[in-house]
This record gives sequence, C-alpha cells and structure tokens, in this order.
Amino acid sequence: MCGIVAYLGKKPAQPILIEGLKRLEYRGYDSAGVALINPDKGGIRVIKSSGRISVLEELLSEPDPKEVVGIGHTRWATHGEPNTINAHPHLDYTGKIAIAHNGIIENYSTLKTWLITKGCKFVSETDTEVIANLIGYLYSNTDGEDAPRDGQNRFEWAVQHALNELVGTYGLAIVCTDFPDMLIGAKKGSPLIFGLGKNEYLIASDAAAIVEHTTQVIYLADNEMVTITPKGFHTKTIDNIEIHKELKQIEFSLSAIELDGFKHYMLKEIYEQPKALNMCLGGRLDMRDGRIVLGGISKYWREFTRAKRIVINACGTAWHAGLIGEYLIEQLARINTETHYASEFRYRNPIIEDDTVVIAISQSGETADTLAAVEQAKERGAVTLGIVNVVGSTIARTTDAGVYLRVGPEIGVASTKAFTAQVAVLAMLAIELGRRRHLSTEQVRFYIEELSKIPAKIEEVLSLSEHIKKIAEATCDRENWLFLGRGFNYPVALEGALKLKEISYIHAEGLPAAEMKHGPIALITKGMPAVFIATKCSQYEKIIGNIEEVRARGGRTIIVASQGDENIKQYADFLISVPDVPEELQPMVTVVPLQILAYHAAVLRGHDVDKPRNLAKSVTVE
Ligand code: F6R
Repeated sequence: MCGIVAYLGKKPAQPILIEGLKRLEYRGYDSAGVALINPDKGGIRVIKSSGRISVLEELLSEPDPKEVVGIGHTRWATHGEPNTINAHPHLDYTGKIAIAHNGIIENYSTLKTWLITKGCKFVSETDTEVIANLIGYLYSNTDGEDAPRDGQNRFEWAVQHALNELVGTYGLAIVCTDFPDMLIGAKKGSPLIFGLGKNEYLIASDAAAIVEHTTQVIYLADNEMVTITPKGFHTKTIDNIEIHKELKQIEFSLSAIELDGFKHYMLKEIYEQPKALNMCLGGRLDMRDGRIVLGGISKYWREFTRAKRIVINACGTAWHAGLIGEYLIEQLARINTETHYASEFRYRNPIIEDDTVVIAISQSGETADTLAAVEQAKERGAVTLGIVNVVGSTIARTTDAGVYLRVGPEIGVASTKAFTAQVAVLAMLAIELGRRRHLSTEQVRFYIEELSKIPAKIEEVLSLSEHIKKIAEATCDRENWLFLGRGFNYPVALEGALKLKEISYIHAEGLPAAEMKHGPIALITKGMPAVFIATKCSQYEKIIGNIEEVRARGGRTIIVASQGDENIKQYADFLISVPDVPEELQPMVTVVPLQILAYHAAVLRGHDVDKPRNLAKSVTVE
C-alpha cells in the first residue's frame, strides 16, 4: 500500500529518495515525505506534503551533499486523513527518531494512552507515531536492568524493545540523530528488502525503488531487522539473535518499470499481454510429449492429483481468475473446486481435510488477506500452492509449491496482464491434472495447442483498440452499467465491471447473465449500457435470451462475440468481434476488450488511470 525507500551511502540522499518514491508512487499516493539526517546541523530535516511526489518535490531545496542518510515514504492513508501532519516520516516527541512505516499497528490505541501518561506528545492521528514515540521513550529512559548490554547500541536496543511490544504489521525504516550514520530496517507482515550497492545501502518496500542502484538484495523475513552503518551491516531477529541472510540477485530490468512510449502503465500492460503470456507459457507446454511442465509443483503432483477438494483463495481481480480456475479444474480435471474471498476464508472455520489442497493467487504476493488465508490453511495441514507474480514475495515464500506468472512488474493499479497470466497458469494446472487423471492424449494435445495460440489471438484483439475507443466515446457518459456473462465468461463479466468502476468511477455490476432477472433487471432504463460476453459456447442460445431481455427494456448492448457470428449482429448496438477460442480458454481473450473499454472510458472522463482515487497497488493491510 504505502512505499518505503531509505538510503545510506556517500551520495546526497535526497534525489535518491525522491527517485525511489516516484517508482513506488503506484503503491500509494495521497501524501509523501522524506527525513534527512544532517550531521552538521545535528538534527533531522523532515519535509512532507499531502498529494503526489511532484508536490513534495516543489517543497525541496537543493540537495545537501552532507545529507547522505535518509528515509522516504509515500502514503496510502489508513489512520488519519491524508494531510501533511499525518504524512510520514514521523518524528518521536524528542525529535531524535524518525520513522517511515508500512502496515497497521493494532494495539496503537493502548500504547498511545500509556505513552501519554509517560509524557509523550502526539501531533498526528496515525498509528505510526506510536512506534516513533515508543522507540523514543525507550531510547531516552533506559537505565539499570533495562540498559543495553554487550556493547549493543542504545538505538538498536530501543528499536528491538519497541518492536516486541507491537501487535500488527510493519515494514520500517528508522534513523536517529545521535547515530547519524546508522539506518535500521525491520519487517513483520509488510515487505521489506535490503539492497547492497557499491559503498551504499538501500532499504525499500519494493525492488522497483532500488534496482537503479543495485540488484543484490536480502529479503528480510518477519521479526527480522537490519542495522546498517558505512562500515557494513548486520541482520538480527528483533530478539537480538544474529542471523545469516543469503544475498539474492533480483532479475528486474529498469525498462520493465518505464512507460516505453505508452501514455499509461495500464495501457502498456494491456499491450504487453501477448509477450507476457508467451513468457508465462514458455517452456511449460511440452507439445512433443503432450504434457505441461510446472517445475515449482513437481514434488506435489501426487497430492494434487489425489486431491478430493481444491480451495482457491484470492482477492479482487485475482479472485476472478480463481473463479475461472474453479471452472477449469472442475471441467478438465474433475476435482471439486471452490473459490473463496481470502478475507472471508481467513476468519471462518474452514474444513481442511487430508486431501484438500489450497491455492493462493496473488499478483503482488503480499496481499494481507491472501497471506493470512495461506497461513490458516497451512496451520490446518493443507498443502499450499502459490500462483504469484512477484518473485521472492511473502506468499511465494510461504506456500509449499508455486508457479510464477513471469509477466514482469505490473505497475498500473488496475491489474491486466497478471489476470490473463493467472488464468493461463490455472489452465495449465487444470490440463496437467486432467492428463494425470483421465483426459485422453488427444484432448491434452488439443488444449495445449490451443493454449499456445492465445497470445496471437490477444494480439488480434489489441488491434481493435480504436473501434473500442469509439464505443467508449458513445457510452462513457452513462453512470450505471451492467456486465453479463455465463459459464467461463461469467467471471470475465465480473472483471470487466471491476476494471470499469475502479478507473473510470462509473458504477458497474458484473453478474452471471441469468441472475439478472432475479433483481438487477429492475435497474435497466433506456440507454443503459449492458456489456455481454456472448461468444460461441455451450450457453450461446441462453445468453441471446438474456440479451433480448435487456433490449426489450431499452438497454444498449455492447456485445463481445466470436468473429464470423452473423446472427449476433441483430442484437448488438455495438459489436466487438474476437477470435474463436475453445470455451474453456476464452476468458484470456474476452477480457481484453473489456480492459481496453475501461481504459478509454477512464481517459475520456479525465481520470488518472494508473493512480485511481483511494486505491493502491498492493493491499498489505486488512
Ligand atoms: C484490481 C486489482 C485488485 C487486486 C487485488 C489482489 O484491478 O488489481 O483487485 O487484484 O487487490 O491483489 P494481488 O493479486 O496482488 O493479491
């Protein structure tokens, strides 16, 4: 949600922090700030503002070459409105400690009350200020029994003791004026990586913020911290036990996080889908032997093949992909499958039996609810599989087995290429499970062959962008829309509605088309846009019936249909013809015109497509 970047090195920290924050802005963008240690002036210079990084930039003076240690933050508000006071970094009441925080402190209210009785002053409404004050209080009031021992410095000691009191989640970067060349990072439940450059160190919540400087990183695990000085660093648990962490090389090219001539990341990522799917499928479709190769599952095929029940957990767009996965696995592998909102699953009392396998789907690999669902499933003994995009993310590391999407960084807040790749992975899983259970060789070869053709078919849909833009021009003034589909295209209708509402702020409802007459049909008024996914499929005749119901009430139909379907023309106010694909694999193609439609509608309505209001890319809080 929020983004952290911190620097300790020889260069002026300010421009490095600002560059890093810009790369993290997609994670949260309601306010931002930096705190820089100035050894000459003996203090911390904090500059904060509400709004985007560009607003913060205007407040900054020329970088001071002496300020070589600093922390920065871009915020997505949870506690307290997005104003300058609530923006991070936060200082403690003594003005010595500054922190940038991602996550939520659940016991902040109790701690705040206690700290106030101890004389600590609070200026913001945030939970984060409690952490700053707790560290500050412990730092300034330590003696006797409680004093740091064995040469440990007081700053690190105070951080550890404060963290042990916190209930909740945090990714933290912390500095202290008394230790002007020291930077501390700590993690629990919110991602944090530590990068080692040449004579410089960085801490960030996301690799995007540091790849320009280094690709050598350490992933901190929960309850771990790193203390950095110009002489080096050490990693410990928050209980002060030294730990050795392996250095990892991140594969991340800068061009993957640049716009490359596109106006928006979302548009770039929509257009990247053929390439992204080729990356996702590459080396995994074994045409010669008629099988699918998924290295990350190889040790668990037995559990999967024998599973009596598969439970999929995800949120938002990933949940829509999960629903398609449910249909795919039931259809091709004949295993009872159900898809849950992770936020619900984690708080129910789910039945997990010996032969239940749990799949978690997440682009970021950091979604708090999805992670909690995985932990819940593991606790109850399930084998867990992660379908994740971000390499090394928490869900990827927590699950027993995994399949990476391999689509590169997704920066646009509205998920596009990750969705099609999630469906592609679920299709591969379903085909391979089917092969191991009952599908004939011919059937398996057929699906593999058809799957390999999907990227080229998406390419064809992309060429319809101008036509779809005209449809958006004619309809985007309407404030209420319906998206309707059946079977494999029912989750596509949900996804189309979500895409439209999250970036264009048009109210849209996605439904299984037959459900419309059980209530939502009352909404239809003259000219109301109703988007139907009515490609050739087993329920084609049924969906024509639903289209007629809308037309009879004056609704305006936008129909995604199969190329060459002459019959459908009579029902369509606007027609989008997409290449023919077997029913089970259609969602990867039929979703693309809906992504393009939402994109154009949002641009026409004058919205910032990549940073829709109130949203953030990765939802690391409940
Ligand atoms: C919508 C969107 C969200 C995410 C959801 C889960 O366009 O992007 O609905 O799909 O927040 O995120 P991940 O996949 O990172 O777990």
